Amino acid sequence: MKYFPKISRGDVYLSPIDLEDIETFVKRSNDSRITDWTHWTPRMVSLQSGKSYLEGISKNWEYEFAIVRKSDDKFIWVTWLYHIKHINQTAELWIMIWEIDEHNKWYGTDAVNALLSFAFNTLNLYNISLWVKTFNKKGIWCYKKVWFQEVWMKHHCEYCNGEWYDLILMEILRPDWKEKNK
Ligand SMILES: CC(C)(COP(=O)(O)OP(=O)(O)OC[C@H]1O[C@@H](n2cnc3c(N)ncnc32)[C@H](O)[C@@H]1OP(=O)(O)O)[C@@H](O)C(=O)NCCC(=O)NCCS
Repeated sequence: MKYFPKISRGDVYLSPIDLEDIETFVKRSNDSRITDWTHWTPRMVSLQSGKSYLEGISKNWEYEFAIVRKSDDKFIWVTWLYHIKHINQTAELWIMIWEIDEHNKWYGTDAVNALLSFAFNTLNLYNISLWVKTFNKKGIWCYKKVWFQEVWMKHHCEYCNGEWYDLILMEILRPDWKEKNK
C-alpha cells in the first residue's frame, strides 16, 4: 500500500505523500487549469526541485498531505499547513483537488476538516488562516462549511493571466472549531 491513513474524515483520509508520485506531483503543479485558482501558477516545479521539495517536507517537519479517497485509495491531490509558528500557535492552510470532475463531492470539506483536526488536536495550534481569490466561490463556500470566517480583504494584490484580483483572508480559531465539532 502506497498511502498510510494518518487522519480520516468522511470519504477521504490524509496520508504522507509517496515519492513515487513525483511525476504526477510535477505534472499537476505545472498545470494552470487548477493552479490559476491558487497562487501556484508562477512557480516552476521540475522533477529535481519537486523531489527535493517533497523530501524537505518530512525532514523539516512540515505538513503536506496527500488527500486519498477511501473507496479506491485514489490520490486526489494535496493539502498542507505552512508558515507554522509554534510560539504564536498559527499556521496557514492550502488545498487543491486535481480533477474538476472530483470537485463538489465534499472531498474538500472532509480534507480541510481532517487537516484542522490535526492542526488543533495534534499540533496544538490555535489560529488557522488562508487567502482565497474573491472569484473562487467554490473554495469560499467549502471553507465556510468548516466554519472559517471572512476577516479581511486585500485589494488589487494578486496578478494572474494579465488580470488583477482581490484576496479574502479567512480564519478559524480552535475554540470555534471545537464547539462546532462537539
Ligand atoms: C476549493 C476546493 C478545494 C473545494 O473542494 P471541493 O471538494 O470541490 O469542495 P466541496 O464539495 O466540499 O464544497 C464545495 C461547495 O461549493 C459549492 N459551489 C460550487 N461552485 C459554486 C459557486 N460557483 N458558487 C457558490 N458555491 C459553489 C458546491 O455546491 C459545494 O457546496 P455544497 O456541498 O453546499 O453543495 C476544490 O474545488 C479545488 O481544489 N479547487 C481548485 C483549487 C483551489 O481553488 N484551491 C483553493 C485555493 S484557496
